[in-house]
Order: sequence, then C-alpha cells, then structure tokens
Amino acid sequence: MRPASVDEVSGVLDLCNDHGTAVVPQGGNTGLVGGSVPLAGELVLDLRRLQRLDPVDRTDRRVVVGAGVTLGDLQRAAADAGLRYRVDLAARDTATVGGTIATNAGGLAHLRFGGTRQQVLGIEGVRADGAVLSHLHGLAKDNTGYDVASLLCGSEGTLAVITAATLTLGPRPRAAATALVGFADVAAAVAAATSWRDVHTVEALELFGPEALALVCTAEHLQRPLDGDAGAYLVVEAAGDEDPADDLAALVASGAGIVGSAVATDRARRTALWRYREGLTSAINGVEPPLKLDVTVPIGALVGLVTDAPVLVDRVAPGARTWWFGHVGDGNVHLNVTGSGDRADAVADRLLRHVADLGGSISAEHGIGTAKRQWLHLVRSAAEIDTFRRLKGAMDPNGVLHPHALLPEVEPGSA
Ligand code: MLT
Ligand code: ZN
Repeated sequence: MRPASVDEVSGVLDLCNDHGTAVVPQGGNTGLVGGSVPLAGELVLDLRRLQRLDPVDRTDRRVVVGAGVTLGDLQRAAADAGLRYRVDLAARDTATVGGTIATNAGGLAHLRFGGTRQQVLGIEGVRADGAVLSHLHGLAKDNTGYDVASLLCGSEGTLAVITAATLTLGPRPRAAATALVGFADVAAAVAAATSWRDVHTVEALELFGPEALALVCTAEHLQRPLDGDAGAYLVVEAAGDEDPADDLAALVASGAGIVGSAVATDRARRTALWRYREGLTSAINGVEPPLKLDVTVPIGALVGLVTDAPVLVDRVAPGARTWWFGHVGDGNVHLNVTGSGDRADAVADRLLRHVADLGGSISAEHGIGTAKRQWLHLVRSAAEIDTFRRLKGAMDPNGVLHPHALLPEVEPGSA
C-alpha cells in the first residue's frame, strides 16, 4: 500500500487492525537490520508519498516534514532558508525522515549535535487502531505529559506509524574544512580523536582501517589519499562562522602518531576526501552482502575491540574478513564481516557477546530490526523487555504493527 496522507494511513491501519493483518512500515529501505522487510507475508506500508514539507519557520528554527521526504530534500529545504538539519548520513538521498526517526538514526555529526531523537520537537503518528496522535507544535519547552515523540523515535514501527514530525534546525556555519589523517596505528588515531572531540569546531570524527581504505580505493577507482601506508585513518570535519581551516591544519600537524594528512576547504576537494569514508558501505557490499554489526563500546575499549574482532571472527569462521569503520567520537564501530557463510549467526553471537561484556551496546544507531532481536537480552534486562512488551500491548493490542521487529520472539508456551 502506498498511502499519500495521514488519513489514508489511518484508514489502512484501522482495516488491518480489524482483520488482524500485520503491517510493516517502509521508507527509503536503507535500513541495515532488516527493519523494513516483511518476514511472513505482512502488508508493506510504503510511506514515501507522505511528502508534506511546510515552509521553514526561520524564527523558531523548525520545520514540519512528512515521513516520506528524504533527508537530502529536508537538508536542501533547510539550506535554502539559511539553516541546517543536523542529522547527516551517506544514504541521505534515499533515507526518509520517517525511517530515520523510527530508527533514531545517528549519523556523521552525532558527536556534536546528537542523534535524530535530539532533533524531534513534535510528532504525528498513527496508532494500530487508526487513531491519529498529532502533536506538531514543536515548542522548545513543552512539559505536558508523556513525550510521545521521544517514545516513537527508535520504536522501529512497533508502536505507531510515524507520518510527520516537527524537526529542529540549526544555524548554517559560514565555513567548513575537511581533513583526512593517517596514523601509525589505531591507538594513535583513537587517542587523537578523543582529544579532538573537545575542539568546538569539530563536527565529525570518522575512523577506518587500512583494509577498508584499500577496498574503497579499488571499488571507486580512487587514488590513495596520502603517500605511504597508515595503520588507521580519520576523516575530520570542522565548521564554524570563522574559517576553521588553519586550526584544523594545526591540529593535524600536531597530533602524536600522525604519518600524513590532507586538508581541504573547497567543496569539491572536501567531497573527494569524504568519498573515502562514504564509499565504504557500497565497497564492502561489492565484496558480498556482509554481516553488519553496528556496535558501541566505551571509547576506552575501542582499540581493543577493533584489534580483537578480526581474531574472534577468524576463530568462529576461519577465512572470513572483518572490515571496520565508524563514528569514533561516539565509540561507535561498524563491524562488517564477509565470507562467514553459514557461520554468520555464530560470528554475530560471538561479537555481540564480546561487545556486551565490554559494557557496550549491540546497536549504536541502526536499531534492532529483525536481525538482532535474539540478542536484545544481552543489553536489556528481562524487566526492561517486559516493559517494552507492555508498551507494545497498550498501543497495539492486536500485535499488527511490525510483529517481527525489535522484541525477541516469545518461545511457544512461555507467554
Ligand atoms: C555509516 O556509518 O556509513 C552507516 O551507518 C552505514 C553503514 O554502517 O554501512
Ligand atoms: Zn554509521
């Protein structure tokens, strides 16, 4: 079904609820945990026709936007009004606002501006029974009971179908600069990133390994960005009203363990440096669709994780390859494993248990979806999961909204 208005969404859900027909909401289909994929004949509710995009409110720096608008279109609308939507990710031209809210997407500038939840001022969603929950005023302060917007953000389509939201916008910086920095090893890169987090112009700190860089260079036919080899790389984005280029150049000239760097200020060269980072997902997909494990650990455990992960993977699935990259300022690493074949579940189990033992999370920004729900118990207590089920039961008593996502399957006889 492809509804074009909130009333049409309401009508479809009302009918599905009455008939016990399960529904999977879908946006740009860029999710990475199977969250928009029907597993057992559910009706797919394609929300991309929800294209509402109100004029930007420059005074209150906010905009009301439909679930089907892409992140890229939202970013351009904000830019045309001299403002900025501060969630950004490589899939910006396909990912939809509704999907990014449903998964509480993090992205490249989470370090500085937080994730999607921090941008949502108001929400419109439709409950399983068709009731429309609309609270789109988008006030900076609004202390009037349960924060439904925050609850729906990250609920992965299990509590209501998000149809629109009021999103906060920020000022547009006048200047930006990008650096790609090579380090002797991962420890030096993480140490530098840990200290550069505090530089107020730094908005993104993206880490990747030499294997991932070699892969993206081959896949995208790119020259290697620096002379010589490095043990780890960081892409650093800085922005501000004053040109941050000199400060960024000084930063990357001063850090310990730096073996080379390139700094760019014009848009074309900045985009070229970002390609080494933004091309990673499709370069790895080109090897084969990988096992994708998006995890966070305390930053103090990050070097150990990226060093140990390939060893653990090789023990469980000999010959499999681990490609890692991520948002180092948030402790968020994307572990991508190719070649694990029928050992993929065993690899996921080993790595996710390791991450939980390190005090980390089995999902930093991609969500649980259908792919990770069997491991939710590693990071959420039985009482928490029971509370999730009670919330789901209150908002969707017939269990028609995305029944195979997020919550672990109930063992027969244990309900
Ligand atoms: C990214 O950081 O590029 C995204 O989370 C996508 C991915 O992990 O492949
Ligand atoms: Zn990411």
